[in-house]
Amino acid sequence: MKPPDKDYFLILKDLVRIEESEEFEEIRSEYTSLSPAERERRGKALLNLRLAERHFSPAGHFLATFVLENNAVFPIFTLEIGDMVSLVARPLGEDDLLTGTIYEKTLDSITVAFQEEAPEAERFELHRSVNRVTFKRMLETLDAVAQTQNTRLAVLRDISLGLRKAASGDLEEASIRWFDKGLNRSQKEAVHKALAARDIALVHGPPGTGKTTALIELIRQSLFLKQSVYVTAPSNTACDNLLERLVASGVNALRLGHPARVSQHLREHTLDFKLALHPAAKEIPLAEAEWGRLKSRLERYRDRRSPGREEEQALGRDISFLRQEIQHLRKEVFTRVMKEAQVVVGTPTGIQDRSIRERTFDLVVIDEATQATEPMAWIPMTSAVKVVMAGDHFQLPPTVRSKEADAKGLGRTLFERYYSVLPEDFRALLDRQYRMNEKIMGFSSRMFYEDRLIADDSVRTQTLSGLPGVQDTPDTNEPLLYIDTAGKGFEERLEEGSESRYNPEEAQLVLSELKKSLDAGVPPSGIAIISPYSAQVRLLTRLFSSPGVEIDSVDGFQGREKELVIVSLVRSNLTGELGFLNDTRRMNVAMTRARRKLIVIGDSATLSSLSFYKAFIAYAGEAGGYKSAWEMV
Ligand SMILES: Nc1ncnc2c1ncn2[C@@H]1O[C@H](COP(=O)(O)OP(=O)(O)O)[C@@H](O)[C@H]1O
Ligand SMILES: [Mg+2]
Repeated sequence: MKPPDKDYFLILKDLVRIEESEEFEEIRSEYTSLSPAERERRGKALLNLRLAERHFSPAGHFLATFVLENNAVFPIFTLEIGDMVSLVARPLGEDDLLTGTIYEKTLDSITVAFQEEAPEAERFELHRSVNRVTFKRMLETLDAVAQTQNTRLAVLRDISLGLRKAASGDLEEASIRWFDKGLNRSQKEAVHKALAARDIALVHGPPGTGKTTALIELIRQSLFLKQSVYVTAPSNTACDNLLERLVASGVNALRLGHPARVSQHLREHTLDFKLALHPAAKEIPLAEAEWGRLKSRLERYRDRRSPGREEEQALGRDISFLRQEIQHLRKEVFTRVMKEAQVVVGTPTGIQDRSIRERTFDLVVIDEATQATEPMAWIPMTSAVKVVMAGDHFQLPPTVRSKEADAKGLGRTLFERYYSVLPEDFRALLDRQYRMNEKIMGFSSRMFYEDRLIADDSVRTQTLSGLPGVQDTPDTNEPLLYIDTAGKGFEERLEEGSESRYNPEEAQLVLSELKKSLDAGVPPSGIAIISPYSAQVRLLTRLFSSPGVEIDSVDGFQGREKELVIVSLVRSNLTGELGFLNDTRRMNVAMTRARRKLIVIGDSATLSSLSFYKAFIAYAGEAGGYKSAWEMV
């Protein structure tokens, strides 16, 4: 039987391949334009390595362990386990470059798995190469998704294609005993729907509405039902956030992934640390020391040839017995660590970690699901009985490097596809937000969320003047301000050497607004300046560097919040060309970062070519927050 709509996944495979070659091209041009030392400084390469050991992995890979000359500790660099590297031998031999995968990493050694044996050489270099592993996993996963029959994965696939209806069981909301007593109505409803669902449920959470909070409750409820749970999100930061909140609610969580990629204060929850720190692991170093002692004694005997053969044989037996004992202890510790862990937390590819690869999870939870491309999102789903995703498809989609892949749909997420096919019973909108003054929230709510958002009383009328040490002025009392630069002749410019744009006069206006707020006593750490254009971010950073005030791109600031946010829109031209600003999801992110005051600066003459901005300017006017730059000094 021909699997349904297999073509869709074949198209996705093509897009993954296009994206892969784009990344490859980027690295190639980086390779030709930066000096090796510069690349080491940026974490793209390691130079001056010595080959310390050649060995084999249990799976039979050729492993090579490298150390720095004189065993120095590695600089903090971005080469990570699973990353692809190319090996360069110095002096340069005739051999082709070997490509390998980083297999293990300690503070002073790095082990790389190769397809063949590493050559002899005086010195080696490792250079970052395309992470073909992740791409390979995505491609393999898409094959599996396309071909599988009569599996949970097939059910999830068919639901996503609209070929099958999602199922749910009977569950009275009144029968749920809440762990978090503070959940609001919409969060409870979301958790209830997710618990009742048999296959899949979505938690749609606009900015600041407590998606992660709801997921934590769901996870605790599922654990209470003795379910196995894998918790994931597309970035390590988001995984750490989940881990931190699980740990805070008393859950024993196991974090997969190399400790180097996990926040310092959470490393004790990684598998490596748990294995080393487990009480049952105490005997291992002792046994290893004893093993070492016996081994050197045996060598001494052999050198001197003094005692009889029998004694030597007995010693040999002790040594191999001890070796088995150590292996047994290691296995035992591993089993106990895995058993004690109530949930496993890791990135989407983490579900294929050796430690859990064979397992199936009753529940797979994907937070920030709208930040994962569809091929990435399927990876953890291959081991799931049921999936719950949280996200917001009205904020920025995952980064896709290739314009072509993006245009052909790689930026469309699986969350979004499910959203379009699942009935209400399987998706919930979190409608109460805990971040913004209601006037800051209002426009976003109107444009993106059918006006359904509610500002919680704890934030509804908050303004800057409510902060300790902030003066009470008209500026600090108003939550929303749009400054219109129309007619001022503040023209955008194109930055040399990049495609990005900046607007120097607008930047000056940003700085004068910033100064006003600082003078009124708003703490620098409570302020962010954001712009869709990286050239404007660079310009502002050059013009103004005060400790505390953050200056960032809109994309870089997604997921974050500040008391005061100043948005610099940059575009000002005669043709009404809006470029980046055409993606209104970017504006949704930009306009929902501020808790107490949002200032947006832009040229209405240019912006008005899109009705979205016309509506925003009208909204600001209604809310009493419109000013022309002509009125400003
Ligand atoms: N029911 C609630 N009552 C009070 N505060 C809440 C509630 N749900 C979430 N919050 C708060 O709102 C903020 C955002 O919550 P979070 O779960 O991180 O949201 P999201 O994942 O949607 O960004 C946090 O400070 C959180 O403590
Ligand atoms: Mg969250």
